[in-house]
Parts: sequence; C-alpha cells; structure tokens
Amino acid sequence: MHEVKEVGTAELKYADKTYSYPVFEGSEGERAIRMGSLRQDTGLINYDPGYGNTGSCISDITFIDGEKGILRYRGYPIDVLANDCTFIEVAYLLVHGHLPNQSQLTHFSRLLNRKSLIHEDMRNFFKNYPEDAHPMAILSAMVVSLSSFYRELNMSVEEEIDLTVARLLSKIRTLAALSYKQSIGAPHVYPSSKLTYVENFLNMMFYTPVANYEIDPITVRALNKLLILHADHEQNCSTSAVRLVGSSGANLYASISAGICALWGPLHGGANQAVIEMLEQIHREGMTIDTCIARAKDKDDPFRLMGFGHRVYKSYDPRAKIAKKACEDVLNTLGIKDELLDIAVQLEERALSDEYFVERKLYPNVDFYTGITLRAMGIPTNMFTVIFAIGRLPGWIAHWLEQRDDKDQRIGRPRQIYTGPVKREIVPIEDRPE
Ligand code: CMC
Repeated sequence: MHEVKEVGTAELKYADKTYSYPVFEGSEGERAIRMGSLRQDTGLINYDPGYGNTGSCISDITFIDGEKGILRYRGYPIDVLANDCTFIEVAYLLVHGHLPNQSQLTHFSRLLNRKSLIHEDMRNFFKNYPEDAHPMAILSAMVVSLSSFYRELNMSVEEEIDLTVARLLSKIRTLAALSYKQSIGAPHVYPSSKLTYVENFLNMMFYTPVANYEIDPITVRALNKLLILHADHEQNCSTSAVRLVGSSGANLYASISAGICALWGPLHGGANQAVIEMLEQIHREGMTIDTCIARAKDKDDPFRLMGFGHRVYKSYDPRAKIAKKACEDVLNTLGIKDELLDIAVQLEERALSDEYFVERKLYPNVDFYTGITLRAMGIPTNMFTVIFAIGRLPGWIAHWLEQRDDKDQRIGRPRQIYTGPVKREIVPIEDRPE
C-alpha cells in the first residue's frame, strides 16, 4: 500500500484545552484528520451516522471525485476501461493492481475455466428453494456454502490467491445462472471451456436443449461493459460490509456473502430492479412525468425517483453516462423499442431542470439505465442485482485482500451514544403495573 503524506495539523478546542491532530493527504489530494485517539484524549466520539465523513481505511484501489464525476480503478478512467478492456482484465487489475500481460491473462482465463464447475452436491441445494425465492437470497447462501466445499487457501501465496479469486469469480457466475434455471424449472446448463467468461454466463442462462441459442456478440460486449461499470466503487455499503465482516477474521466466502446481502437493498444494488419496477409502474398506471416528479419530491409519499441521487456524486455519475449510451446502442442494434427507455429519458430531462433535484444535486446514477439494457438482453428483473453482484465481486475481493495486509486495520467496531434508561432496579413481577 502506498504511503500517505503528512501535510499539517488540525486543532480541536474543547473544555479549555486544545488538541492537535495530524492531517494527511492521499495521492489525489484528498485530506483527512487522523483522530484515532480522539476518545482517549477528550472523552468524545465522532458522531457520523451513515459515515458520510468517516474514512475507514487508506486504499490504493479506486478513486472517486464526486464533485467532478471522476471514477478510476487503479488510476485508469472508467470510460477507458469500459471501452478497451474485458471484465476479466478489469477483475485482474482490481485484484493485482496492474493490468495482466498476455501470459497472465491466459493463465487467469484457464483458471477461470478450470474452476467454473460447482460441486455436484451443491446443485442439490437449489432444489430445496421455493420457486419464487429471490436469486439474491440463493446467491448469498450459495456463496457462503462454498466455504464448506472448498477449503480456505493460504492467501499470502500469490498462486493460491489467484486460485481462490478464480474460484469465486467463476463459480459466482455458475451459481447465478443455476439459480435462474432453477427458478424457471429448466435443466441446469454446465459451463463450457470453449466460451469466454461473459459468453459462458449467457449460455448457462439461456441455452436450452430444445431450441437454438446463439450467443450474440452485441450482448456480450454490452454485458462486459456493465460488469466493468460495477466492478468497484470504493467504500460503498456492500464493500464496507465485506471489510467489516472480514475484519473479524471471517473467511473470504463469508465476507463476500455479507457483501451480497448488503448489495441487495433497494438503496444500493437493488436499485436496478427497483428502477425497472418504478418505470413499469409509471407505464402501467399511465402516470405523467409531472406526477412522478411531484411524488418524488413529496416527503409524505414513499415514492422516490429510484436510480437518482448518490452519496458521493454531486454531479453526473460517470457510470450512468456510459450505461445510458450502452443502453441506447444495445436497443438500436438489436432493433428493440422499449417504452420504458422513453419514460426514463423524459424523467431524467424533467428532473435535471427541476429546482428540487438541482438544489440537491441529484443526478441519474449507474442503476438508472442498466436495467433497461439488461431487459433488452432478456435478463429477468429479479436477476438484475445478481448481475451487479457478479460485477462487484472483483472489487470486494480486492478490498478484502487489501484490508488483510493493512497494518492499520483492527476489528471494525463503531461506538454509539446511548439514550436508553439509566440504571434501574428490577421490580418483582407481582409489583409490575399491568
Ligand atoms: N428521489 C427523491 N429525493 C431524493 C432522492 C431520490 N432518488 N435521493 C435523494 N433525495 C433527497 C432526499 O430526500 C434528501 O432531501 P432533503 O435534503 O430535503 O431531506 C436529499 O435528496 C439528500 O438525500 P439523502 O437521502 O440524504 O442522500 P444519501 O446520500 O443519504 O442517499 C441514496 C443516497 C442513493 C441512498 C439516495 O439518493 C436514494 O435513495 N436514491 C434512490 C435509490 C438509488 O438509486 N440507489 C442507487 C445508488 S447508486 C448504486 C449503488 O450504490 O449501488
């Protein structure tokens, strides 16, 4: 991990005393106050619900400038990666810190192929889920179950890291496709060593013995791009969950499973499903754009503009720009006309000129357009967040590994301000009021 630079001190005045804390800077000029001894020095803790101002780690992996709309993985801009690389190259980049050369990529791709099957006994697990089980519930359970089938390897040996990473990346895709096949009562499809990562996923999702299934290169290209857009996003909710669980010494599979559960929520990765459900509702109920905007602004109405707003981006989410273009390209090339896209474009236009959204700097986020693209590919709505999870996996792994090697890290354990009853005595049961 790269060193930070000390750039000065910050002073805190409290109860007639002045405390001094070092200020340090990262490679892109972001600054932080090192306040680990705050409680010990002053008796105070830092109250920051939602951790909007809390730096939980120093990281080399991903840089975001939310004001300028910049996102880079290991220094490479997201638009360049999305255009010029495959998802597997980006996964390698996130985990190893550099793009693979040809022999590294060939080796990694071979490993991905070799590790793509899941234990036959695990396939039986799928059979016991109810038909309408959400694939995210199945996926999180299956990923943690991997820990009982595949022993934990020595993650300080480069080759064993590669093996575990390949195992997880490869198997998550098999598990995801199997959960879909199971949910529609269709026969499971095995991975094929002749197909690339994304081709394999599509084939396991859509191949059936009774009809011809041709893997469409446009879909492959678009899915690669969407996975790259999702591959990492520094200390978001699910990555922080992976780090927090990992900080207790829990194994990689268990930590990733926690990340999958955190991702599922509609304020996080579950937003891609929620966006399509919202657009469908607008379409079905014939809601006007004005009504949607008015409802989204009304604090007494639970309706929110899903796919809008972000904790970090206070300008257009750079991933949303790429996702919107990819969406239009896919629909145009496949000759699909989707009325939901028209609604989304109108919603965006109206929101971006509405004072409420402008004042609060609410722009479309990555989830606003991805669902429409996935729909055009034939991916069912309840699988959208699963695709996000496949995409986010290399980021989660990279953070888990980085944390493990970070000497500053301790078990994650926030504090609280207690507001419950002060000490009291137990009243005998016969004397307690009815
Ligand atoms: N629709 C209407 N109002 C909104 C929206 C929205 N989508 N998002 C934020 N606001 C309002 C919010 O009510 C608040 O208003 P006020 O200042 O009057 O109380 C203000 O904007 C600030 O919002 P916040 O809730 O304090 O922002 P946050 O940083 O805590 O939450 C968010 C960020 C992404 C959870 C939120 O914007 C949201 O719920 N968006 C919709 C869900 C969504 O699209 N999530 C995907 C996020 S991107 C992908 C990912 O992370 O997985």
